[in-house]
Amino acid sequence: MTERNATPLRSVPEAEVSPEQAAHDAEGQELFDRIIAEDSRIEPRDWMPAAYRKTLLRQISQHAHSEIIGMQPESNWITRAPSLKRKAILIAKVQDEAGHGLYLYSAAETLGQGRDQMMEDLIAGKAKYSSIFNYPAVTWADMGAIGWLVDGAAICNQVPLCRASYGPYGRAMVRICKEESFHQRQGFEILLELSNGTPAQKKMAQDAVNRWYAPALMMFGPPDEDSPNSKQSMAWNIKRFSNDELRQRFLGMMVEQAKVLGLTLPDEDIRYNEETGKWEHGPLDWDEFKNVLKGQGPCNAQRMERRREAHAEGAWVREAAAAYAAKQAQKESAA
Ligand SMILES: [Fe+2]
Ligand SMILES: [Fe+2]
Repeated sequence: MTERNATPLRSVPEAEVSPEQAAHDAEGQELFDRIIAEDSRIEPRDWMPAAYRKTLLRQISQHAHSEIIGMQPESNWITRAPSLKRKAILIAKVQDEAGHGLYLYSAAETLGQGRDQMMEDLIAGKAKYSSIFNYPAVTWADMGAIGWLVDGAAICNQVPLCRASYGPYGRAMVRICKEESFHQRQGFEILLELSNGTPAQKKMAQDAVNRWYAPALMMFGPPDEDSPNSKQSMAWNIKRFSNDELRQRFLGMMVEQAKVLGLTLPDEDIRYNEETGKWEHGPLDWDEFKNVLKGQGPCNAQRMERRREAHAEGAWVREAAAAYAAKQAQKESAA
């Protein structure tokens, strides 16, 4: 392990850098580079390049926002779940997603940005979240397809993030991934039951898989040649595999599981390339992906409106919590 510098060193704009600060920065950079080369972890008090901090803040806050917005398509089905058991499972799953958002906001806060600011950026429409949550969940089978495909893609993406170089992010991901496995299993089980049910139920399951397949593949982000920031993220040990590598790995897993489900993936071009050892898929509509990301997806406006409403409805809770904390602090200082 590399010895850490106990004093946090902050980067300041170049014009104001004094010789002492420049020496500190050079020392900090050297230590940072060594920690990354050793594949060890950067912790909140360590010196880090401004671009590393910015990249992580963007990634972790976007991830947190995705967990929170991602509660919406499924919470919409809680009252209509077909049995008490299904209702209990779905409630547990949606609650987990809220928890994931909270772990991730906490991890992002260690990089120096307040949660209030992140939330403000989200409701002002300045912050992004995963475009997958801008698609509607139209039938009960969508709960199965979301769990199987969307949570499945999330696991593929997130398991390598457990080894991300930034300590608080990696540790949050360990806990999140354990819960995501349960999410994927419950989705698989919903589809399995529907697939073995009546012809109408099987059709509903297949229809949901048809609608979620391509958006799930696009969750890994644009193809490698259109993903300019990936290289730097990999050099910093934040990302461990490229978008395309993760997408191919996911596809291979889904092909096998679809056979067990008795459902088909709606893509005639899926094949295993013996030469490259990789799974291949048909073309994806990246224009649609970009449009949804820009706010033109089927549910963008609805999702944002609901988030703004929920934020406004929760104002009294935040006020009460702040008043309680102030009272406690006053008590402590008087003691
Ligand atoms: Fe999650
Ligand atoms: Fe999940």
